[in-house]
Amino acid sequence: MNIRLFKPSVGREELQSLEASFTAAWLGLGPRVSEFERKWSSYVGCRESVGVNSCTAALHLALSAYRFPKGKKVLVPELTFAATAMAVLYNGLEPVFVDIDEQTLCISLEDLDRKYDKDCAAVMAVHFAGHPAEMDRLVAWAKPRGVKVIEDSAHSAGGKYKGKTLGTWGDIGCYSFEEKKCMTTGDGGMISSDDADLLKPLRHSRWVGINKDTWERYEANQLNNRDANSWYYEISDIGYKYNMNDMMASIGLAQLEKLDGMNRRRESIIKQYTAGLKGCAKVREALPYHPEHSSYWAYMVRVPDREAFILHMKELGVATGVHYMPLTLHPLFMKYKGETPSAYAIWGELVTLPLFPDLTDEEVAYVLSCIQAYEAKSV
Ligand SMILES: Cc1ncc(COP(=O)(O)O)c(C=O)c1O
Repeated sequence: MNIRLFKPSVGREELQSLEASFTAAWLGLGPRVSEFERKWSSYVGCRESVGVNSCTAALHLALSAYRFPKGKKVLVPELTFAATAMAVLYNGLEPVFVDIDEQTLCISLEDLDRKYDKDCAAVMAVHFAGHPAEMDRLVAWAKPRGVKVIEDSAHSAGGKYKGKTLGTWGDIGCYSFEEKKCMTTGDGGMISSDDADLLKPLRHSRWVGINKDTWERYEANQLNNRDANSWYYEISDIGYKYNMNDMMASIGLAQLEKLDGMNRRRESIIKQYTAGLKGCAKVREALPYHPEHSSYWAYMVRVPDREAFILHMKELGVATGVHYMPLTLHPLFMKYKGETPSAYAIWGELVTLPLFPDLTDEEVAYVLSCIQAYEAKSV
C-alpha cells in the first residue's frame, strides 16, 4: 500500500468544463469567473463574491478593504497556516497571536478577550481543519467592540455551524481552492460578503487597480463597436495581479457541483476513523469531529510520541503530515510572541492522517490496521 495524505478528486466533469473555456478561447479573467462568483454566492448564501488566485490573496484583500491605519493590530490564532498572519503583515498591520481552545483547536475566546486592546481592529477566525470556530460567540464579542471579523474558511468550503454556512458569519469570508482543499481550482480563492459595497473596490485591487477588466472592455467593444472609448480605464489605487481566471473558474464550476458529495464522502471516512480509534490508548482524535455538519479538510489525531508514530506509518506506506507549527516559532513571527501555552503544548502531538474523497474503505481500514499495530507495539 502507498496511501497519499491528500488527493484532489478531479475527472471528466472538470475536463468537460475546461473544454468550454478552450472552445471560447477565453482563458483569463472573463465570464466563467463571473458565473462561478454568482454560483458561489448562491451556494454559501451571501450577496457578493470576488474570485482571486488564492486564499492568501483573498485574506490580503479582505483586510485591505477596511483601510486600517498602519500599525493597528489584528488578532490571529497561533495555530494556523502562515497566510492568515501574512495577510496582516501585507497590510502593514501588527499580528497579535491568540491561544487556541484545547477542544476545538480554534481561536480561544477567553484568550481573545485577554489579548484585546483598543488598537485591535480585526480578528482572523480560522476553522481549524474544518472544525468551526464558535462564530456566534465570536461575532457577539466582536460587534460591540467594533472589531471586524475576517473568516479564514480555507479549510471548510461547504461546512456549516449552527445551520449557517462557514464564511458567512463574519464581515468577510475567505475560501481556498488550492489543490488539497475541500474543493479545488488548482490554486484559487474567493472573497465573500453580504456587504457588496465593501467588496466593490476589491474587484479593482485584484486586477492591478484597473477599474474595468478586459472582459468588460471586450464586451463594451462588441456591443458598440463605434465607441472608441472602450479601451479607456483608470487606476486610482494600488492593485495586485490576484485575479482568478476562466480556466480555474471552469474547474471550480464542476467542483462546486460535486462539493456536497465530496464532503459527505469525507464524513463517511471520518466516521470510520472515529469508530476505528475507539479504545486506542496512544492515538486519539484531535478534534470533537461533527462531520455531518461541517466540512473537514483534514483529519488529525494526537499522539504523544509523534515522531515514532510518523515513522511507523511511513514504513507501512501511509503518508502523514503535521499542521501546524505555532507561527511564533518561525523567525518572521518570533517578535510577536506572547503567551499561547495551549498551542505550544498541543501542536507537538498533532498528526494528520489521509483524508480525501477517493480514499477507499479498504484504504481507511488499512490505515486503521497500521494504527492498531502501533498501539500493540507501543502500549
Ligand atoms: C488556514 C489557511 N488559510 C489560508 C490558506 C491559504 O490558502 P491558499 O493556498 O489558497 O493561498 C491556507 C492554505 O493552506 C490555510 O490553511
